[in-house]
Amino acid sequence: PAHLPLAGRTVTISAGGTREPLDPVRFLGNRSSGKQGVALAAAARDAGAAVRLVAAHMEVPAPAGVELIAVETALQLREVMLAAAADSDVVIMAAAVADFRPAEVSGSKIKKRDDTADPVITLVRNPDILHELVAVRDSAGSSQLVVGFAAETGDELGDVLSYAEAKLKRKGCDLLVVNHVGADKVFGQDHNSVVILSRAGSEPQSASGSKQDVAAIVIDRIGSELSRVFP
Ligand code: C5P
Repeated sequence: PAHLPLAGRTVTISAGGTREPLDPVRFLGNRSSGKQGVALAAAARDAGAAVRLVAAHMEVPAPAGVELIAVETALQLREVMLAAAADSDVVIMAAAVADFRPAEVSGSKIKKRDDTADPVITLVRNPDILHELVAVRDSAGSSQLVVGFAAETGDELGDVLSYAEAKLKRKGCDLLVVNHVGADKVFGQDHNSVVILSRAGSEPQSASGSKQDVAAIVIDRIGSELSRVFP
C-alpha cells in the first residue's frame, strides 16, 4: 500500500459530550454531536493507526474498524482516558467535557412536590482531563503527542487566537485545534473552520471544510509532528 503516515501508531480519541446525572432519569449535558471526533477516528484509521474511540454521548455512529469504549460522565471519561493513554502514541481530547457535575446524584427520581421549595442544584468542578493527561505524559518522560480542542468566542480572530495561545500554554498540550465559535456555528454542524496552534511555536495553521476535511488535515499534521519526534 501507499505510505500510511500513522502505520504502527496507537491513537486514542475522546468524542461526544459527557452527561452528568442528577438522578436515574435526568442529566446535565451539552450540544456536542461527536461528529468531529468520529471524523478524526476515521481519518486516523485511514492513516493506518490502531484507533481507540472513547465515546461520550454522540449523535452519530462510531466508524467501523476502531475500538469503541462508551462512557457517560466526565469522571468515567477521565478513568478510561488515563488508562488508554498508557499505551498510546497520540491522545486527542475532542470530547466536550462538562466543567461541572451535580454535587449529589439522587438514587431515586427527584419528585416534584407542591409542599417543598424549588430545588437548587449544587455543582462541583470536574477534573481537567487534558491537563492531567499532559501531566502524566510529562512525569513519565514520554514523547506521546497530546492534542486538545478549544471552542472560543470573540468578534476578532486576533482576540480568539491570543486567548487560545494562553489556553495552549495553560493546558500544556502539543497541539490545540481552535474553533472560532459563532452563534450558530460548530455544534452539530457538518462544516468546521479551525486554526491549529502548536506548543513548539510554529505558525498557526488554518483549516476549513467538512469535519472530514478538517480531520484529515489535523491527522496529517499529527503525522508530521510524530515524524519530527520519532524520526
Ligand atoms: O478549557 P476548555 O474546556 O476550553 O478546554 C477544551 C479542551 O480541554 C478540550 O480538548 C476538552 O476535551 C478538554 N477538557 C478536558 N477536561 C475538562 C474540560 C475540557 O479534558 N474538564
